[in-house]
Amino acid sequence: MPERAGEKSAQADAAQELFALITGASGGIGACFARALAERGRNLVLAARSGSKLEALKTELSALHQGQAIRIEIVEIDLSVPEAAERLFTALQERGINVSLLVNNAGFGAHGEFVELPLARQSEMLRLNIVTLTELTRLLLPGMVARRSGGIINVSSTASFQPIPYTCVYAATKAYVTSFSMGLAEEASLYGVKVLALCPGGTATNFFDASQFQKINLPGGLQSPEDVVKAALRALDKGKSLAVTRWINRVMIFVQRLAPRRLVARQAGEMFRPRAKSNQP
Ligand SMILES: NC(=O)c1ccc[n+]([C@@H]2O[C@H](COP(=O)([O-])OP(=O)(O)OC[C@H]3O[C@@H](n4cnc5c(N)ncnc54)[C@H](OP(=O)(O)O)[C@@H]3O)[C@@H](O)[C@H]2O)c1
Repeated sequence: MPERAGEKSAQADAAQELFALITGASGGIGACFARALAERGRNLVLAARSGSKLEALKTELSALHQGQAIRIEIVEIDLSVPEAAERLFTALQERGINVSLLVNNAGFGAHGEFVELPLARQSEMLRLNIVTLTELTRLLLPGMVARRSGGIINVSSTASFQPIPYTCVYAATKAYVTSFSMGLAEEASLYGVKVLALCPGGTATNFFDASQFQKINLPGGLQSPEDVVKAALRALDKGKSLAVTRWINRVMIFVQRLAPRRLVARQAGEMFRPRAKSNQP
């Protein structure tokens, strides 16, 4: 049985070099997390598939923060394959890296009719958005519990609050992330560890191309990834377990909670229906 927060553990007192691990750090929201955390003087582990983009980001951050002597490590890895979390965890152990902040950010979606979207791609999405996120959390949380401090930011989405036809697997993966993170936040708070479900709405990144979305007119347009990260770190600092970025998203989620779920799903379907599709069978 682990000790509760406030009980000093010898491990927590040991001088350790602590890192923030960001998955999906090669672009978009993840790269913005890397910039913001380097600004805060954090050592970083940057993980994604695109090694060259990670190297470029490392070079950029090392040049910007020369005086602070922060350490930046790179792990080139596909996190959508089975046992990816174990492999990343082993790579961290081999380098003697202790993670005090985990940003589970890597993720993608898919747009189209479920019956037509390739099964393999949907399975990759389930593994990346759900399985690897959960396993990394499970592998890294014990170190934070032992130190009686730490943080986990799980990047979910406003898509997590309602079923969304034509991207229904993606929305369901994010519903899992929000539910899992908010539940875990209550458990982890007993050990001084903060867990945040971060729910951005549409954000100006490569997400829509990577996920092959057709153009969708989201109310309020797209937010900048820098603003998403600012909101996330502010929420984490305050110990919140849920951050929905932008007031327009918060209003929409509130209104949707008052409406019948089937109606909400139908309206989401109107917004997300691929252009070539009509609602006639
Ligand atoms: N943009 C939005 O509108 C929006 C809204 C709500 C939530 N989100 C969530 O925000 C998170 C970040 O997305 P983003 O908007 O920043 O999109 P992005 O620009 O496409 O970035 C996605 C990141 O995930 C990494 N990634 C993708 N597949 C991977 C894999 N198999 N293994 C390892 N890394 C992988 C990508 O790196 P590599 O390609 O180099 O592997 C990239 O660094 C996602 O979880 C997304 O669901 C985005």
